[in-house]
Amino acid sequence: MAQISPSILSADFSKLKEEILFLEEGGADYIHLDVMDGVFVPNISFGPPVIKSLRNITNIPFDVHLMVDKPERYIKDFYEAGADIITIHQEATTHLHRTIEEIKAFGLKAGVSLNPATPLESLEYILEYIDMVLIMTVNPGFGGQKYIKSMNRKISNLRKIIDNRNLDILIEVDGGIKLDNAKDVIDLGADILVVGSGIFEADNVIERTKMFKNL
Ligand code: DX5
Ligand code: ZN
Repeated sequence: MAQISPSILSADFSKLKEEILFLEEGGADYIHLDVMDGVFVPNISFGPPVIKSLRNITNIPFDVHLMVDKPERYIKDFYEAGADIITIHQEATTHLHRTIEEIKAFGLKAGVSLNPATPLESLEYILEYIDMVLIMTVNPGFGGQKYIKSMNRKISNLRKIIDNRNLDILIEVDGGIKLDNAKDVIDLGADILVVGSGIFEADNVIERTKMFKNL
């Protein structure tokens, strides 16, 4: 069964606590926190102080997705804010291996994300050091975009690589996941689905979260 990591990017920011408690009641496995710096992506969201406040209201693991240029500058801040998984972008750091080691040195799980145009080959010599690959199925920066179809091949190719090399790595898929394509993404080999607008567009966030959980 796949796990679900709802993204609060599409939540009502004036009632984040309530929204997160809905996700908890719906059975969310993680809370996906999209951090955007206005440089790596053309949008700005929130940073460590918001995450730190949210840490007080739930014990669900925090899955922090850094869409930030040179993320090595902020690993300690996100550790102190309460992150459990920190995912950085392959495209955003020059010394990817060093930044991964830094995340792990804090005792956190390390993920690496790939933009849609970035090939899996860029992770060839990195895979054995990481806990998760986050495949972007939209260009990062905004919620509510359309799933990019050619990413189906990327997910299934990564599944094959992980299985062939017998690696202990989770595949997380992020962007444009709705009730009508979620099952296909799981069948392609995803372990964790990020869902933003697909949950928060619903009138009942608890019920919608349960529907994704039960796929
Ligand atoms: C996009 C973010 C995603 C986004 C997903 O840059 O990384 O996590 O919030 O939103 P939906 O599910 O609406 O595509
Ligand atoms: Zn994300």
